[in-house]
Order: sequence, then C-alpha cells, then structure tokens
Amino acid sequence: MKEITFTIRRFNPKTDTAPHDEEYTVEVHEGARVLHALHAVHAQDPGLAYRWCCGSGQCGSCAMRIDGTPALACLTEAHDGMTVWPLDLPVVQDLEVDVAPYLDRISPLCSSEGAVFPTQAEIEAIKPLRECIECMSCVSVCPALKVSDFAGPTAMRQEMRLALDPRDTQDRIAEAIEHDLFNCTTCQQCWKVCPKEIQTPGKAIEKLREIANRRGLTLPRHQEVAELVRTTGRSVGKTQETFLEQVPEVIEPEGEVRATVGFFVGCMYNGRLPQTALDMIEVMRRNGIRVIIPHEQVCCGSPLIRTGQTAIVDSLKHQNIEAFTSRDIDIVMTMCAGCGSTLKNDYDTPFTVMDATEVLNRVGIEDPAPLHITVTYHDPCHLLRGQGISEEPRKLLRKVVDRLVETPNQCCGSGGGVRSGVPEVAGALGQKRGEAFESSGAEMVVSCCPFCEFHIAENTRLPVKDLMTLLRRGYEEKDRQKAAKEE
Ligand code: FES
Repeated sequence: MKEITFTIRRFNPKTDTAPHDEEYTVEVHEGARVLHALHAVHAQDPGLAYRWCCGSGQCGSCAMRIDGTPALACLTEAHDGMTVWPLDLPVVQDLEVDVAPYLDRISPLCSSEGAVFPTQAEIEAIKPLRECIECMSCVSVCPALKVSDFAGPTAMRQEMRLALDPRDTQDRIAEAIEHDLFNCTTCQQCWKVCPKEIQTPGKAIEKLREIANRRGLTLPRHQEVAELVRTTGRSVGKTQETFLEQVPEVIEPEGEVRATVGFFVGCMYNGRLPQTALDMIEVMRRNGIRVIIPHEQVCCGSPLIRTGQTAIVDSLKHQNIEAFTSRDIDIVMTMCAGCGSTLKNDYDTPFTVMDATEVLNRVGIEDPAPLHITVTYHDPCHLLRGQGISEEPRKLLRKVVDRLVETPNQCCGSGGGVRSGVPEVAGALGQKRGEAFESSGAEMVVSCCPFCEFHIAENTRLPVKDLMTLLRRGYEEKDRQKAAKEE
C-alpha cells in the first residue's frame, strides 16, 4: 500500500457559488487507478459525487480531467500530486457532468423492414467508428462546439457510421450538414483524448465532407479554393512576387555544408508570406544547411482533403513526390504546419518529412543574440497534434527570447476550411485565443503556421511573428552587437 495526496475540484451548485479545489490523502495499493483513489476519498467523504460503472474502460461513465487532460478514471494510474477535475462540460456536482444534451445528439440507426445486413467489407469500414463508449471526452475539448451549434465529434462520428450502414434509411449527409459539419476545424483534439482512439476528423468529418462534395454540397468558398488549385496549382491567388519566383533551385549555406534538405514551401508562404520563408532560408544558411527547392512543386492538397474535395489530390501528390524524388532528396522540410501534417499523414512518401524546427534541432544551431522580449508560443494544431511537435519550437524560442510564457493550448479556429467557409466560427475562436494571449503577459505571439499567424493577427492587438523571423532577427542582432564591439 502507498499514501498519495491529490486534489479534487469540488462544486455543489446547491451550496457553492464557485468550484474550489480540495486536497485529500488516501492509502491505495500499488498500481491503483484514479477510480480506486476516488473510492478511498468517498469512504472518508460520502458526499463526493462521481460516476463509474464497469471499472474496465467499457462504459465511458468515469471520464474526467486528470492532470488537465480528459481520461478514464478506471484506466488511469493514480499518482501523488495529481489533479482530478470534471470534464469541461456543465457540472452537475463535483466530478459529475451533464452529458444528456450530447447523448441526445447521437442519432440512432433507423432500419427498414427486411433490411439487408452489412457485408464483410461494410463491417470493416464501420469498425473504426463503432468503438465509441460515449464518455464525452471529445465533446468536452471540441473548440467548434463551444462557439457554435456544431453537434460535436461523437455525433458526427455516428453520422458517418450510419452513412456506411446499408440498413440505415436516413440521409445522414443532409443531417450532418444541418448539424454544422463544416464548423469542425480538424484540430484533432477529439481524436487525441479519445480512450478508443477514434480518428473522428479523418475517418468521419473529412469522409462526410467528401460524400457531400460528390453531391455538390461543398460550401461555395471551398469550391472557389478547389478551382484555384485546379487551375493554378495553388490555393491562394498571386498578389505579389512569390517565394519561388525569388529564389534559385539550390541555396548554399555560409561555410561548411552540415546537412542538405529539400524544401516544400506551401501555398501560404509562397504566395502570401514569402518574406517569412526567406527568413527561414537565412536561418538555414547561417547553420550550414543546403536547401534544394524544386520549382515545379504545387499545393500539398491539404485545403482540399480537409474540405472533402479529393478529386485531384492524387495528381498533386504525384507531382510533389516526383519533384523531390527526381532530385534524390532524402529529407523534405516543411515550415507550414498544415503542409507538414499533410505530407506526413496523407502522403506515402519515399523520403522523410521534417518540420523546419525538427531540422534545426537535429542539426544544432548557432546561438542567436537573445531579444529582450516576453513572448508566448501558439501551438498550431497541425504541428502539435498532426505531427507531435511541441518541444522543438520551444527549444529554439528559448534561445532567442528573454522569456517564454505559456498560454493553455487551444485551436485558433483557422483550420479545416473554417476560416474561409464559416468565418463567424473562426472569428469567435480567434477572439477567445486573442483574449488568452493578451492576458498572458506576453508582448508578442510566436507560431509556426501561416494560417494561425494570419488568423491570430486579426484577433489580437499583440504583434504575431513566425519563429523563423525571430531567429533571423536574433542573428542580425548578434551581428550588429559584434560590429559595434569591433568599431
Ligand atoms: Fe466504465 Fe470507467 S467505469 S469506463
């Protein structure tokens, strides 16, 4: 047996005006789960409210926030110092939340008499979507659901599950659109907290959008983007000299070559923010990295995949893969979180794909001069969850700024075609993000994604910069200080 001390967030709406944290010390056996610890607390304090049933990860009733993240109490090991909070949903009492409104939005199968059973192939297709135990962890973290009438991840998962079932008689695509299918930002929070690891964004949202597209139900603004990609190879129109128009195919570093990478620029850095990509190139040159830039590369296809418009995606993939393999490039570097996530997760590449922050951490960088500024870092969803990258940018950032303050991670609202297709939802999420940054004490927001940077800049008074721009500034400052000393 061992003794652990931990905190539970308590709230009784009948007696409390606000939630408060209470500390408990209990004895539990080695390997005890959070649920065991709660039972031990309950023995001391029978007023503690929490739900559980199966005790084995099957019923979903014990979902709660453990150390800040939704998890099942019956499967998570208890530890000294942990915090146990209710899911971020309306609280009934203590750790019990009101899940009824969300359960009501999960459509039942409507079968007709004499309906045929699904074939083996249909059963296999349905399988990844039917494991849901309705714990509502996904619902509790969904950003779109917090600012709109979006039915939420598990309701959408069920729509796709039913759309695949030959017994079902309802029009699930029309139903999903009615329940704001296009409001999902594909931030992937739902998938990352799901105890059954159901890939709702890729396996339900994007698939429902694909069927909607085949029926001509794609949002007009998304159709315009698809037409632009089809006619120009790019998802943004030309408004200035592009990055690719400004650079040669090979950019040699200063001094010794320590690494060689191909560079996939992406539509936003190419067409809208070429200077940011040029800043990155200077950082690579400074650190001995040769950069090869095939000029025939095109849009990665992300804006099309996320919005269900996949007809020309294979040809884009083919052209991009060929651009790098024809030059025998082993490592393709991206600096747009969305492109990187797409190349890593939606492509089958014969080369390794790395974000620029991964490349710099792997090769190792010369220290820039620290800039005297306090910044906060915004994790782009497609870098954090799409590529599992959070420490690499922070390590680089700590080298170039005096102080990095953290802001709780949250989607900015720009992904999944929401910024273009449903701007009011993107705006509401951006505003929440902007408020969080402004109360963080930071003087600047730094990120690694052109979509996030554009969107956040519209929703905060703070300046928003790309990490590569800051690193370049750090090197310029270092050179300036050195020159001043030599004078
Ligand atoms: Fe059933 Fe935890 S008690 S899933």
